[in-house]
Amino acid sequence: MKVLVTGGTGYIGSHTAAELLMSGYEVVIVDNLSNSEASVAERIARITGKNPAFYIGDVLDEALLDRIFSEHKIDAVIHFAALKSVPASMSNPLLYYHNNVSGTLSLCRAMHRYEVKNIVFSSSATVYGISDDKPIGEDAPLSPKNVYGNTKLMMETVLTDLYRSDPEWNVTLLRYFNPIGAHESGLIGEVPAGVPGNLMPYITQVAAGLRPHLNITGTDYDTPDGTGVRDYIHVVDLARGHIKALENSRGLGIYNLGTGRGYSVREIVRAFEEATGVKIPCVEAPRRPGDLACYFADPSKANTVLGWRAEKTLHEMCADSWRFAKSYYGKA
Ligand SMILES: NC(=O)c1ccc[n+]([C@@H]2O[C@H](COP(=O)([O-])OP(=O)(O)OC[C@H]3O[C@@H](n4cnc5c(N)ncnc54)[C@H](O)[C@@H]3O)[C@@H](O)[C@H]2O)c1
Repeated sequence: MKVLVTGGTGYIGSHTAAELLMSGYEVVIVDNLSNSEASVAERIARITGKNPAFYIGDVLDEALLDRIFSEHKIDAVIHFAALKSVPASMSNPLLYYHNNVSGTLSLCRAMHRYEVKNIVFSSSATVYGISDDKPIGEDAPLSPKNVYGNTKLMMETVLTDLYRSDPEWNVTLLRYFNPIGAHESGLIGEVPAGVPGNLMPYITQVAAGLRPHLNITGTDYDTPDGTGVRDYIHVVDLARGHIKALENSRGLGIYNLGTGRGYSVREIVRAFEEATGVKIPCVEAPRRPGDLACYFADPSKANTVLGWRAEKTLHEMCADSWRFAKSYYGKA
């Protein structure tokens, strides 16, 4: 079975491409390298001993998609290609709507032309917006609070309508919680552009000496230690969720991919220090506007329907994040 992975040199896409190849799938990657490096394709080949076909280009380029679909008999698409910065989406909404939503339309049109009707889509827990449900199930109210989240909900809507128009489609919407970690080889991982907006890349940059300390934004939340609680999931577990989705989801399927367990900022810092032996200086700072106290998944639907469960520990998430960051930042 041949799978087209859009955004396949990015953080989650590269881990998924590696897991697909290790599981015996053939992989074709298309990525415009707006947030990743071409060398990732070679690293995937080093990890797996197999070469993915690799096209550098944009999912908005329908002529390129025609080339890919005519050169390969694609059975299914996993669609990661998107821009993902919440602050950048607020300052440049047109870019985000164009890249994410128009990019998805362009991809779906090409799939339609070549009668490829299987797609697994990278959605996000941000589609839930602010929710009091704890844990968050797939039927929690949808109400994104930023442009990035709006693009994700729009793309979900496009794909859902496509399925409704033709039930031969298999459309799986995977709503990720907070992916961290890296492949255990240390060859692929997350490379944040600019100042990291997420906790783990910030911690690894402090550990690598690129930043003096971690600002803990909000220490007075209604949580056991006052800091924000999130559902962190190892990126390799997340990648494996896509394979389970390809294999087990039929028709329209919507699944949360998280562990179902929340960890606070202080717990993550402590676990990172224990896993790596590197001390992370912390400074208490005010809450960031819009941040929630506590946010974690109810992954039971993915557990039962897809037969998928996150297996990796917080210790592994921290150790693997640091192994990659250490080598990427030249500290190994
Ligand atoms: N990382 C997270 O915390 C998180 C959480 C929820 C959902 N997601 C979603 O998962 C997907 C992958 O996220 P990631 O963390 O791997 O991001 P990433 O930026 O590392 O990967 C996305 C890849 O897509 C490429 N790309 C972007 N626009 C493209 C286009 N028009 N044509 C071709 N390639 C394009 C980028 O160059 C990049 O390599 C995204 O859709 C993101 O919105 C990520």
